[in-house]
Amino acid sequence: MLTLFPDLIGVFRSTGVLGRAVERGLVELETHDLRRWAGNRWGQVDDEPYGGGAGMVIQAPPVLRAVRELRDLSEDPGRLVMLTPRGRVFDQELARELATEDRLVLLCGRYEGFDERVNEILQPQELSIGDYILGGGEVAAMAVMEAVARLLPGVVGDPRSVSEDSFAEGLLDYPAYTRPAEVEGHGIPEILVSGHHERIRRWRLEESVRITVERRPGLVLCNWNRYPAEVRALIRRFAPALAARCEEPGGPATSETR
Ligand code: ADE
Repeated sequence: MLTLFPDLIGVFRSTGVLGRAVERGLVELETHDLRRWAGNRWGQVDDEPYGGGAGMVIQAPPVLRAVRELRDLSEDPGRLVMLTPRGRVFDQELARELATEDRLVLLCGRYEGFDERVNEILQPQELSIGDYILGGGEVAAMAVMEAVARLLPGVVGDPRSVSEDSFAEGLLDYPAYTRPAEVEGHGIPEILVSGHHERIRRWRLEESVRITVERRPGLVLCNWNRYPAEVRALIRRFAPALAARCEEPGGPATSETR
């Protein structure tokens, strides 16, 4: 990862699931300070925009030098990703795709972004983590790293966590409960202590579907083609109009219309 704020990543890379994965050598996570390639004694890598206006633009030459040097360090140059609000919106499908790469080089912008010639020359894949503006790409890069790392073999202790996520793909989580059984007069759904595994599975799936159709109908439109028959049947039951839109000839939406 190439950034102007390498210190931001310290605690992130040494804590929790990712920290353990780094410690066990399952993932390597290196940060590089773009200022190293500044080419001047002050470490300045930005300048005023041609044409005027607010903010500073990160210059192309330091980025080109840095990326080329980092890529030359290993045989596999890796996939070059730039974090920017104008990129393709990052989602689980893209996380899975990135998890197949041996190496990712993440470019974190700041200020008003990079000189456009970085994009013209290096042609990175541009990724956004959502339609809002952060102060820079670092937090976005951390989101990408965490989502990708937990898909790598051995990183998440209980692999069921990852496979259950993918079974419930395109659905929001069902509600979870733990002890104590009562909190300020609020109990838990009886079924969860019934011991009927199949009925518990079914209840959870119904809750997932119910919450998803209520809160994120757009997610249903995007994922209809991926849902198993059982999920589609529940959507027809809970949200018949939404299901009808999904079943229109030609389908409502693919990942491209998101
Ligand atoms: N840099 C600033 N905002 C961003 C966003 N939403 N996603 C990715 N990179 C960014």
